[in-house]
Amino acid sequence: MRLRTLISLLLMFCCAAVQAQQTQFLADRHVARGMKCETCHTPDNKLKTSGDLDVCATCHGDYAAMIKKTDGKYEVNPHAQHEGALPCSECHQGHKEGKNYCGGCHNFVYKVP
Ligand code: HEC
Ligand code: HEC
Ligand code: HEC
Ligand code: HEC
Repeated sequence: MRLRTLISLLLMFCCAAVQAQQTQFLADRHVARGMKCETCHTPDNKLKTSGDLDVCATCHGDYAAMIKKTDGKYEVNPHAQHEGALPCSECHQGHKEGKNYCGGCHNFVYKVP
C-alpha cells in the first residue's frame, strides 16, 4: 500500500516535470541546461551577434551546418532559406512560441522549437 502511494507520487512528479518542460520557451530550456542570460544577451538585454547572425551560430553553426542537421523532417528544410543572413530569432523566439516566418509567403507549416 505504501509502495503504491510512493509509485503514484513518483508518476505524478514525472508527468508534471515533462509538462513543465514542454511549456518552457527556448531561453528557459537553455537556462535549464546551465546557460545564463549573458550567454545570449549583452548587459542591456540586446541579443548578442556572431558575425552576420545571431549569437546562436556561435554554438549551433551557420545555415550550412543547420541544413545538414535538420535535413529530412520537412519537405522544404526551414534552414534552406533564400533571405541571406536571416536572424535565427525570426523563427526561434527566446521567450515566446517559435514563429513560422516562411509561412508569411509560402504554405509551409513548421513547428519551430
Ligand atoms: C552557449 C551555446 C549556445 C548558444 C549561444 C545557443 N544555444 Fe541552442 N543549444 C545549446 C545546447 C548545448 C543545446 C542542447 C544540445 C543540442 O540540442 O544541440 C541547445 C539546444 C537548442 C535547440 C534544440 C533543443 C531545444 O531546447 O529547443 C534549439 C532549437 C536551439 N538550441 C536554438 C538556439 C537559438 C535559436 C539560439 C540563439 C537565440 C541558441 N540556441 C543559442 C547551446 C547554445
Ligand atoms: C525559417 C525559420 C527558422 C530560422 C530562420 C532558423 N530556424 Fe532553426 N529550426 C527551425 C525549425 C522549423 C526547426 C525544427 C526542424 C526539425 O525539427 O527538423 C529548427 C530546428 C533548429 C535546431 C534544432 C535542431 C535539432 O534537430 O537538434 C537548432 C539548433 C536550430 N534550429 C538552430 C538555428 C540557428 C542557429 C539558426 C540561425 C543560423 C536557425 N535555427 C534559424 C526553423 C528556423
Ligand atoms: C538561448 C538564448 C537566450 C537566453 C539564454 C536568454 N534569452 Fe532573452 N532573448 C532571446 C531572444 C532570441 C530574444 C529576442 C526576442 C524574442 O525572441 O523573444 C530575447 C529577448 C529578450 C528580451 C527583450 C524582450 C523583448 O521582447 O524585447 C529580454 C528583456 C530578455 N530577452 C531577457 C532575458 C533574461 C533576463 C534572460 C535570463 C533569464 C534571458 N533573456 C535569456 C534569447 C535568449
Ligand atoms: C517575403 C516572401 C517570402 C518569404 C518570407 C520566404 N519566401 Fe521563399 N520564395 C519567395 C518567392 C517570391 C519565391 C520565388 C517564387 C517561385 O519561384 O515560385 C520563393 C521561392 C522559394 C523556394 C523555391 C526556390 C528555389 O530555389 O527553387 C524555396 C525552397 C523557398 N522559397 C523556401 C523558403 C523558406 C524555407 C523560407 C523561410 C525561411 C522562405 N522561402 C521565405 C518568397 C518568400
